[in-house]
Amino acid sequence: MSFRYYTATTLDGYLADDHDSLDWLLTQPLEEGGPMNYDDFYAGIGAAVMGYTTYRWLLDNELADGKPWPYEIPSFVFTHRTITPVADSITVIDGNPADHRDLLTEAAGGQDVWVVGGGDLAAQFAEAGMLDDMIVSIAPVTLG
Ligand SMILES: NC(=O)c1ccc[n+]([C@@H]2O[C@H](COP(=O)([O-])OP(=O)(O)OC[C@H]3O[C@@H](n4cnc5c(N)ncnc54)[C@H](OP(=O)(O)O)[C@@H]3O)[C@@H](O)[C@H]2O)c1
Repeated sequence: MSFRYYTATTLDGYLADDHDSLDWLLTQPLEEGGPMNYDDFYAGIGAAVMGYTTYRWLLDNELADGKPWPYEIPSFVFTHRTITPVADSITVIDGNPADHRDLLTEAAGGQDVWVVGGGDLAAQFAEAGMLDDMIVSIAPVTLG
């Protein structure tokens, strides 16, 4: 199994703008089924892991109009806060990613772990030697 950072960036290397908006990304035309497409990637994923800011972005954007948590696979949120996750499939953890390697590997059930992001958490996975792949789509946008 692999720890895979699957993400998108601007031409000048940003994952989000100053206001944590992904409008620059979500307005891009996407070729469904094209190279590096999400569905093919996600089919190989057994667990997802993200930092609190990314989790908060999902709550504020993807779940804003009452939609359910988008992932059926076990999900892990790194935070120092005491939070009640919005789905039973979410586990809250903290500390060094290396301390959770076995937990994440076991949760993925033989498939890969998606390091969703953001940059803060992904850097800690890299530092811990827990990023096997970086799959980066580059949007034709600069945020400056
Ligand atoms: N372009 C893309 O494809 C893409 C993908 C994912 C995310 N994003 C965007 O990236 C932005 C967020 O990225 P980010 O780098 O600012 O933040 P992040 O990595 O999502 O979250 C950082 C936060 O997670 C918590 N955290 C991180 N490491 C921890 C640890 N070891 N133990 C406990 N808690 C830990 C801390 O929050 P607390 O101190 O509050 O606990 C920290 O402030 C959002 O705007 C998101 O939408 C973009």
